[in-house]
Amino acid sequence: MSTKPNVGLVGVGHLGRIHLQKLQQIETCNFVGFYDIDGEKSEKIAEESGAYSAESLADIIEKSDIISVVVPTHDHHKVGLEVLESGKHIFMEKPLTETAEQAEELVEMATQKGLKFGVGHIERFNPAVQAMVGKIGKPMFIEAHRLNPFNPRGLDVAVISELMIHDIDLCLYFTQSEIADIQASAVQVLSDKMDIANARLTFESGCVANLTASRISPSGMRKIRLFQRDNYLSFDLKEKKVDSYSLVDNSFDDKALTGFSTSFQYWETGKKIVFHQPKCSEYDMIEEELRRFIDAVASDKTPPVTGQEGLSALKVALEIEGKAQESLKKINSSL
Ligand SMILES: NC(=O)c1ccc[n+]([C@@H]2O[C@H](COP(=O)([O-])OP(=O)(O)OC[C@H]3O[C@@H](n4cnc5c(N)ncnc54)[C@H](O)[C@@H]3O)[C@@H](O)[C@H]2O)c1
Repeated sequence: MSTKPNVGLVGVGHLGRIHLQKLQQIETCNFVGFYDIDGEKSEKIAEESGAYSAESLADIIEKSDIISVVVPTHDHHKVGLEVLESGKHIFMEKPLTETAEQAEELVEMATQKGLKFGVGHIERFNPAVQAMVGKIGKPMFIEAHRLNPFNPRGLDVAVISELMIHDIDLCLYFTQSEIADIQASAVQVLSDKMDIANARLTFESGCVANLTASRISPSGMRKIRLFQRDNYLSFDLKEKKVDSYSLVDNSFDDKALTGFSTSFQYWETGKKIVFHQPKCSEYDMIEEELRRFIDAVASDKTPPVTGQEGLSALKVALEIEGKAQESLKKINSSL
């Protein structure tokens, strides 16, 4: 595609409104407008933003090369089908769809039609994660905590598809391995779905990941700790920082590292421990993920997070939900 792609948006709720602001700022695309089923909201947002409010989904699709889908998850499949059937590239918020079959159908259709499919796994664009791209070897153990205070939005799906899916995607990305076994448990507190969940994933590589997610926590936390043979990484995704501790030969020149570093001799082993805080870039994560997807379409490259990767994360999330549901039933029946 030699000219700037025309980008349309479907859904201008909480997150869609942010997409709208970012798409209006991105100079590598032409933002053509949005469609939302809520007419009153559409009118208000068109007035506020000056953006074109389309009369129908077909109208915004017709005017666009790329559609960003930011509607509630239960409508992802329906909207996604219409976008792809019309031959347009798609950026879909996570979780991809409600069922794995629906996501498989969309991913398959995009592949057959040669269309780009991007997924909103936003943590891949976290500056702390980006600082470590290409630097992670073979994780042996991963511990993730994603704790959010209560918010009535997002309760249409369990905490696993709403929040834990971000860490599932990161674990699949860090390990580049399939999953061999899943154990899970959950607690249902305020919503009619699971609000707190814990999962232990064993990867075919041998790595084990222990993930905890809650959407009823008094305070927020988004941390991932990753242990390798000679390296420990502690990501604070909320603060967008990463600390790295590496066991290296004494001859290693840690002063050549960018960002802050210091080292400690490790007795008489001929080794030292290097503590390194790489410099993490500062940028808006949503703008970055949209820019990179638009660039992938414009220059015919693989999107940074593909539909296939969104499908893999969804399948794991749904399997965790199944296992957690079983354990919940068992606990409830013994109460
Ligand atoms: N990547 C992230 O971290 C992240 C964070 C929040 C939400 N999300 C995802 O984004 C999506 C939207 O979440 P939200 O919090 O903005 O929801 P929301 O309820 O605030 O907004 C959804 C909007 O879509 C509109 N809508 C509903 N059905 C539609 C349809 N068929 N066609 C057109 N418009 C329709 C609604 O009127 C509403 O304005 C969800 O899939 C959610 O999981 C992702």
